[in-house]
Amino acid sequence: MIAKTVESTSGVPVAQFLPDAFKDFLDDKIILIVGGSNGIGASLVELCCQNGAHVVIGDIDAPRGEQLARKCIQQWPVYSDPALPPKPPRAFFQKTDVTNYQSVLDLFDNAFKKYNRIDHVVVTAGSTETDEPWFDHSLSLTAIRKAPSNKDIDVNLIGTLYVTRVASVYLRHNRGPGVDRSILLFSCAAGFKETPGVSVYQAAKHGVQGLMRSLRANLNSPYQHSIRINTICPWMTQTGNSFPKSVEDRWAKEGLPLSTAQDVAKVSAGVLCDNSLHGTSMYVEGTRAWEIENNIDRLESQWLGEEPSQTLAQGQKVLRETLVA
Ligand SMILES: NC(=O)c1ccc[n+]([C@@H]2O[C@H](COP(=O)([O-])OP(=O)(O)OC[C@H]3O[C@@H](n4cnc5c(N)ncnc54)[C@H](O)[C@@H]3O)[C@@H](O)[C@H]2O)c1
Repeated sequence: MIAKTVESTSGVPVAQFLPDAFKDFLDDKIILIVGGSNGIGASLVELCCQNGAHVVIGDIDAPRGEQLARKCIQQWPVYSDPALPPKPPRAFFQKTDVTNYQSVLDLFDNAFKKYNRIDHVVVTAGSTETDEPWFDHSLSLTAIRKAPSNKDIDVNLIGTLYVTRVASVYLRHNRGPGVDRSILLFSCAAGFKETPGVSVYQAAKHGVQGLMRSLRANLNSPYQHSIRINTICPWMTQTGNSFPKSVEDRWAKEGLPLSTAQDVAKVSAGVLCDNSLHGTSMYVEGTRAWEIENNIDRLESQWLGEEPSQTLAQGQKVLRETLVA
């Protein structure tokens, strides 16, 4: 267990997550990163390769993905015993559109053919459209005639659902029970906290959060395959997916924490490595990460009330016992 519990200013214990010791856990793992051509995903690709993992990159951006795979192959070569069959490459890129189910299936099919197993699956692919707002005070009866873009839902939510569905089956293959495997989804601070100007993105990221919460109770049943699922909720992170200059300037002026892609990649790698983490969400601000799910559950009787909380637990138990095979 890498997490440590610290006192927050409110006096409520919160868990700060301190990732550590990647090499022992990542060596020889097969990790599939969807959205790995740029930003946080690309930093995670490099961190995994540097620590001995083999990484399959699936992304719509082929030039950047191919370039990154070549860099990883050169920088972290794989040494094979001449007496044994050659080991698979350190990295491999396949052009993938996460919004297209067949494209996601093809990625997993090829990854499995090449590597014969998959240990961890990460979805960092994301989209934030701000040019054409769905909800805007200036929208008129004429303006709403034009259907808005669904891209933020398609990439962030539908894409995550597709990858998670295929991953949940592929992760069971070629593995007996007791071998650690996991799915790591990318939500956002907007996945649990209201954020102005990105309503559709926020709805999609709440969906990602909801998917993790739904599957943390059900993913293993009835196979007992120990597949973990967790989310990362980055806050302001410096990547190509940047914010307007006015926000950046004010952020700096107020001395607010800004993560680098490497900071978030480090936390993500830590979650992949720590087999005690299942059903958690790591909120990342600057270089620090905080686990939020435990306190949401632990403090339920305070924010919902003792009696409704007990009734809710009883009803949820009935649903679990009657609906889950
Ligand atoms: N940067 C931030 O401040 C921040 C904050 C909170 C959450 N996040 C989330 O973290 C994740 C990574 O963010 P980032 O800043 O590294 O983003 P990024 O834009 O730098 O990288 C996202 C990657 O997703 C890929 N992608 C986009 N559409 C795709 C599609 N249809 N199919 C396959 N790949 C596709 C892009 O090509 C790119 O390589 C995203 O889910 C994002 O929403 C980022």
